[in-house]
Amino acid sequence: MPIFTDLASGLLRGEQVAETRRTVGDLAGYWADETAAQACADELLYTTQTWFPIEDGTEGAVLWGNTTLMPGRVGEERFMTRGHWHVKRDRGELVVTVSGKGLLVLMDEDRNATSEELTPGSTHWIDGRYAHRTVNTGDEPLVFLCAWPADCGHEYDAILSDGFSMKVT
Ligand SMILES: [Fe+2]
Repeated sequence: MPIFTDLASGLLRGEQVAETRRTVGDLAGYWADETAAQACADELLYTTQTWFPIEDGTEGAVLWGNTTLMPGRVGEERFMTRGHWHVKRDRGELVVTVSGKGLLVLMDEDRNATSEELTPGSTHWIDGRYAHRTVNTGDEPLVFLCAWPADCGHEYDAILSDGFSMKVT
């Protein structure tokens, strides 16, 4: 059963669309300034919508979703997503920016970090060997669509313990 992707807003509609909501406090441990994070722990950080046309983890399948990352700062650090590694490093991902302004931060295993600018229409290939995170550098919500292999696996522990070598202020 198909779903509907509103190309103007980037939002998804359909029965198989799952939604999540993350606050600043949900990313406790990931911020450079944890005291500042505690002070705004209840603030909405980002929402996601994910379409699971097939069970998560299915080899050979592709999943589709979006993220709406709010503008703001925790201390001096810009609002960001948690970021992750793909457990299977040979699984990549595509990102298309719908609206807003931001950065896609990429970091290799040696902690060398680079970033690509997210602007409406910009389309990005993420090599699965790079940890990735997005950051809102603008004043309005940053909305982007993603397509990723259902069996890539998501690894967060190393991000929590070591962080990214690039902080965006
Ligand atoms: Fe990913």
